[in-house]
Amino acid sequence: MAVTTIEELFIHELSDIYSAEKQLTKALPKLARAARNPDLKAAFETHLEETQGQIERIDRVVDLLDTRVKRIKCAAMEGLVEEGKEVIDSIDAGPLRDAALIGGAQKVEHYEIAAYGTLCALARQLGYTEALKLLKDTLAEEKATDEKLTRLAEGGGNAQAAAA
Ligand SMILES: [Fe+2]
Ligand SMILES: [Fe+2]
Repeated sequence: MAVTTIEELFIHELSDIYSAEKQLTKALPKLARAARNPDLKAAFETHLEETQGQIERIDRVVDLLDTRVKRIKCAAMEGLVEEGKEVIDSIDAGPLRDAALIGGAQKVEHYEIAAYGTLCALARQLGYTEALKLLKDTLAEEKATDEKLTRLAEGGGNAQAAAA
């Protein structure tokens, strides 16, 4: 990764999260199928739709800046998705697996929140005003998803797992 300027760093970070979002569009349907709590299933399905919109926002940022994303693979997301697969392989469907899926999903959201937070800071520094608005919209969605997952964990999901 030959990055020598802040503009190049922005494109590198944008390309990394683009890869992460693409990987998630493949993983989220599997997570939805693996969940038993209908609210958790619905949360994964809703976030899949949001994720598709987030990819479109990255496409718009790329158009605005008249550039293109680099073909890189987000290794962190690859690892987080792999951990999700391990949860599905090692825990039978039910409240315990749901609790583990929520934990894994929150690790994903925290990664994305960090990534979009960094991109917003770089966009602000570079004066990319229109791009910044789009990135802030996605950051807000990621934070809302994280909060929804916290409510699912605290609102009975994990208590059911403890009782099972
Ligand atoms: Fe996302
Ligand atoms: Fe997300």
